[in-house]
Amino acid sequence: MRELHGTQQDIKIKTDGVKRTLQSKLDRAAQHFSQIIRQQLERIERMKQDTEFVDYTKLDPIIIGVCGGDGIGPVITAQAQRVLEFLLRDEVAAGKVEFRTIDGLTIERRVECNKAIPDDVLEELKACHVILKGPTTTPRAGDPWPNVESANVAMRRELDLFANLRPVKVPEQGIDWIFFRENTEGAYTLGSQGVDVDEELAVDFTVTTSQGTQRIARLAYEYAAKNGKNRVSIVTKANVVKTTDGKFLRLCKEIGQEYPQITTDDWYIDIMTAKLIDTKRRRDFSVFVLPNLYGDIITDEAAEFQGGVGTAGSANIGKRYAMFEAIHGSAPRMVQEGRQQYADPCSMLRASVLLLQHIGRQQQAQRLEQALDRCMFQEKKLVVTGRDTGATCEQFGDYVMRTIEQIG
Ligand code: IPM
Ligand code: MG
Repeated sequence: MRELHGTQQDIKIKTDGVKRTLQSKLDRAAQHFSQIIRQQLERIERMKQDTEFVDYTKLDPIIIGVCGGDGIGPVITAQAQRVLEFLLRDEVAAGKVEFRTIDGLTIERRVECNKAIPDDVLEELKACHVILKGPTTTPRAGDPWPNVESANVAMRRELDLFANLRPVKVPEQGIDWIFFRENTEGAYTLGSQGVDVDEELAVDFTVTTSQGTQRIARLAYEYAAKNGKNRVSIVTKANVVKTTDGKFLRLCKEIGQEYPQITTDDWYIDIMTAKLIDTKRRRDFSVFVLPNLYGDIITDEAAEFQGGVGTAGSANIGKRYAMFEAIHGSAPRMVQEGRQQYADPCSMLRASVLLLQHIGRQQQAQRLEQALDRCMFQEKKLVVTGRDTGATCEQFGDYVMRTIEQIG
């Protein structure tokens, strides 16, 4: 009897212990959840206040911040800066455009401060109007440095760069696409704030807000309307991710109804990924609007048709700031193998076209775009292969500059 009593007590103690552990797990998770919900509600309030886009025609001077980044970043960014300075030389001479080098957005500095963007660098970035940014290294588990958040993701969030525009063009195949990737929400916004409930359970979060969706959808449809595009394709996985993707789809469609001249269609990401390789169908697509993660994945696929991620640039647009970058990473392997001078500057040069368009320098943007089309798709007098079998980054930069001069 004494023994039995002892066992019952043991069980009771154990059960109490399990209950307490469960309760503490639930409390911790609930607290975490409540904290991120609070953050997101505050972010919504900030979005409500930020309604006007900067008018670049009124800025004098326009300050272009330049961050080389990591790996091949400094090499390819240098060529883009050189070409931009060449195109804008009269305005630079007249003091209407200023280039400002921002050091310190390197993996070494970020690790030293244990921050995705060191505070002083963020301040310098905020003192510019637009930023030309080389790729930065994103640490991952197993790397020799702490797992700090991606500088890209942090910059997009800190500067509220909500629209990631990624054009892809293959003229001879009739491909002329532009992706409007939502850039501050979805699986990314809390990508570093998931919760390990215990050793067995990990939970991440994905976020869709009305404001965040409406502003990207508006931009995509406005772009389509202003550029004579008659079709916008919304891409989600709303059949499965019902709440957040469902909301994204519904709100994009609502905005689409305000543009009766534009056909809206909606696709799930899996079949859209397949359709992009369907040579009969893919030329019909034009403008895409989609949440962050799907946009990340599918734009790498799309860039591959154009000649690889090394050829694709992207614009990260916010109401107050904008940042222009390659769509690819810093290619540390090229540096390790000592061939960074053979890196392809086309991604950063394409990003520079977007930068010029964004600050209203349409004529210069057109000259650069034409020159790139000629060098990359038509003449191909020099080809960058990433190795000594092709041209160096600088030689390609020279080629583009000569071509701009010929175009006049
Ligand atoms: C991109 C990149 C980034 C992203 C990485 C470097 C965090 O892949 O710009 O597409 O996932 O957004
Ligand atoms: Mg990517």
